[in-house]
Amino acid sequence: AAALSIFSQEEVTKHRSLEDGVWVTYRGSVYDITEFVAMHPGGDKILLAAGGALEPFWALYAVHNQEHILKILSEYKIGDL
Ligand code: HEM
Repeated sequence: AAALSIFSQEEVTKHRSLEDGVWVTYRGSVYDITEFVAMHPGGDKILLAAGGALEPFWALYAVHNQEHILKILSEYKIGDL
């Protein structure tokens, strides 16, 4: 795996489309989920969180409150805030 980096919130915010890459944050870590978007069981809704935090959306869609989902997310980690 590549070395992890520290990113600013501003840098994360620049990544909110499939063209520029889709990054999200969760509990202080940064994830590049561009490759996962097409695989998401909940479809394009995932793009609502693009460039920002997953927490408010996962609070609404509690289906994500499962260990196996955190495992999926962990595979896309690129760094920390
Ligand atoms: C379902 C992963 C972000 C909305 C799911 C499921 C997975 C998943 C694995 C299937 C869960 C199951 O049935 O056991 C992820 C990951 C995300 C993410 C890894 C971020 C990297 C989001 C966001 C939203 C969202 C931001 C909403 C804005 C939904 C909805 C479903 C779903 C509505 C239910 C689909 C259905 O069963 O009809 N997600 N999700 N997800 N997700 Fe996400």
